[in-house]
Amino acid sequence: MTRYRIVVLAGDGIGPEVTEQATRVLGAVADRFGWQVELVPQLIGGAAYRATGSALPPDALAAALDCDAVLMGAVGDPLMDGVPREARPEAGLLTLRKRLGVFANLRPVRVRPALATASPLRPEVLHGVDVLIVRELTGGLYYGEPRGRYGNRAVNTLTYDASEIERVARVAFEAAKGRGGLVTSVDKANVLEVSQLWRETVTKIAREYPTVRLDHQLVDTTAMRLIASPSAFDVVLTENMFGDILSDEAAVLAGSLGLLPSASLGEGPGLFEPVHGSAPDIAGKGIANPIGAILSVAMLFRFGLKQAQAAELIEHAIDEIADRGCRTADIARHGERPLSTSEMGDRVTDLVLHAQGALARH
Ligand code: IPM
Ligand code: MN
Repeated sequence: MTRYRIVVLAGDGIGPEVTEQATRVLGAVADRFGWQVELVPQLIGGAAYRATGSALPPDALAAALDCDAVLMGAVGDPLMDGVPREARPEAGLLTLRKRLGVFANLRPVRVRPALATASPLRPEVLHGVDVLIVRELTGGLYYGEPRGRYGNRAVNTLTYDASEIERVARVAFEAAKGRGGLVTSVDKANVLEVSQLWRETVTKIAREYPTVRLDHQLVDTTAMRLIASPSAFDVVLTENMFGDILSDEAAVLAGSLGLLPSASLGEGPGLFEPVHGSAPDIAGKGIANPIGAILSVAMLFRFGLKQAQAAELIEHAIDEIADRGCRTADIARHGERPLSTSEMGDRVTDLVLHAQGALARH
């Protein structure tokens, strides 16, 4: 029997609520395919800090390093705003990414036609939008040394070496080969030496992929074009901090940050998490959108467990959900009663359990 061990790090704020629905869907898919899945809950973030004094306890890290895939909710806790960086909930996640070596973060942004009205942008601008952001995840400003607070001065360091750029560039080109055949590499090469190295290195890797077009674009221009003409993009390749910012911006295309999933990949187990944060303002109310977390489970099946059909089963269910007009509060239409987090989970689980098409092809 096929068995998988999945470490589940629900984290803070809405993390546990959306993760609960995501694991229900995961369980439903496993049932349909006859797989045995062991879910291993572990602590991360502010929740972990409160319980153990560490935002990533050794047990959680050890479990994550020794499993088939890691599913995460969200980290971030406003009550910990004043604490030093090392103790912050975010530090747990950054350490986890680094220790898992998940250098390539894939953040797909699709506009589902039925949800186009949830975006403030005009429908004609959104037509056909299907962007994959490939964000470098274990280097750049987030990790560069030296860093620290020195009285009235503070330092962070932006550094990349060519090998870090090469490996994430290959992920982007490989992805583009199977999609629209265009990589837009985003940098600030008119100002930063690191970006000049980025541009040269990406140009070199591009020669290995003759069927993929490469376009270089400055990050400020990209920020504008991403909402002015989003359908002009296919794969967007960029460094850690630019990718963080551009992916939140791109969420406006999909209609809500709550819809976006991500996969972080490296050599070992992958890390799968919604793009959204812990959203403390709505935590505990049962109104968060679990779709980003549920679609992260689809990415977990596709990239983490190499089970593409299971991924499609979930993605088709979400298409169906969108077509039927099932919406949580973040994307609800005026005057309509939104679904709660768990009601949305019920609908998706039900579709997964009863879908015919995807499984018939299996
Ligand atoms: C994200 C988040 C994280 C990041 C935070 C929570 C550290 O914003 O995954 O986009 O900046 O990478
Ligand atoms: Mn972010």
